[in-house]
Amino acid sequence: EMPLLEQCYNLLDFEGVAKRVMKKTAWGYYSSAADDEMTLRENQTAFQRIWFRPKILVNVEKVDFSTTMLGTKVDIPFYVTATALGKLGHVEGEVVLTRASARHNVVQMIPTLASCSFDEIMDAADASQVQWLQLYVNKDRAITKRIVEHAEKRGCKGLFITVDAPQLGRREKDMRLKFTDEGSNVQKGSGEKTDNSQGAARAISSFIDPGLCWDDIPWFRSITKMPIVLKGVQRVEDVLRAVEVGCAGVVLSNHGGRQLDFARSGIEVLAETMPVLKKMGLEKKIEVYVDGGVRRATDIIKALCLGAKGVGIGRPFLYAMSAYGQEGVERAMQLLKEEMEMNMRLIGARTIEELNEGMVDVRGLFSH
Ligand code: FNR
Repeated sequence: EMPLLEQCYNLLDFEGVAKRVMKKTAWGYYSSAADDEMTLRENQTAFQRIWFRPKILVNVEKVDFSTTMLGTKVDIPFYVTATALGKLGHVEGEVVLTRASARHNVVQMIPTLASCSFDEIMDAADASQVQWLQLYVNKDRAITKRIVEHAEKRGCKGLFITVDAPQLGRREKDMRLKFTDEGSNVQKGSGEKTDNSQGAARAISSFIDPGLCWDDIPWFRSITKMPIVLKGVQRVEDVLRAVEVGCAGVVLSNHGGRQLDFARSGIEVLAETMPVLKKMGLEKKIEVYVDGGVRRATDIIKALCLGAKGVGIGRPFLYAMSAYGQEGVERAMQLLKEEMEMNMRLIGARTIEELNEGMVDVRGLFSH
């Protein structure tokens, strides 16, 4: 039988429950990754190659891990990242994540390919709640322009352009389960017939423009005042180029291992990137985020020690939502806050500013 919500003691626990209770097709879509899923596993194991160098005898009676992300004040430096097709896991879809995020003052990134409409999600939000838009760029730029302008008008505070998916990766687990369009009203306005034989992901993604390139970024800056963040950056050279073209941020990410297999983990790319940015005096010019494999507050702390402004978390919230609905997502967020408070104390940091690269040992990170 199904474990009680109170028996989930950490984010990984939700995964086991979700696997048991979810429909096979939905589980296949959420859990799958590209090819041999090497990058999927690496995302978690990379964090496990970083160890702490905690400070002792710091007065940690009070700890405060609030910070800002793209100018928004947040209680804790993680956000709910964009994951498509929320209704595969829960009848109400992404609004469940919206409501839970509101309760915990957490930023939600709304996916282009949400099951709920964009307006349904915005309508479910609290007045004070902050949301970002994840954008898949349509071959028809008029559609993309409409989406961006509408998001800004509705109060979205950041535009995250996904740059690691000129074509959707091959997720064979998903393909084998033969997706059947349930729970999705996505791709409105693309005017194309979907081909379901390739699994959920491919079926809904044919509108994405593989021609998207650096030359397009000025155009995005001309159509919106929202800060522009490139999601899916994987090398320091491209972080520098993002600074050059005026991006407000980058997400070092491999799309949860769902795109190029053998892409390195975001946390490893971060450890390589920040020293270069610092050497060039650029570390204040751009906010650097990481996602992929974040499951514990210690993972968040590791990323922040290495210079990230915040981290994105994907599957754990999908699993919590699928297993227990809004309550599950809220508990997952609460558990992260509790882990964060304890581990900030144990590492000897009272604030986010006190976390630095001297508190982690990354000697093992690059040797694998
Ligand atoms: C994603 N991700 C994603 N990213 C994006 O830019 N647009 C999208 O539509 C989706 N959809 C999506 C669906 C599902 C089911 C997953 C698991 C992921 C990638 C996502 O934003 C993020 O990069 C990863 O999920 C982070 O890794 P973890 O936290 O899932 O390990």
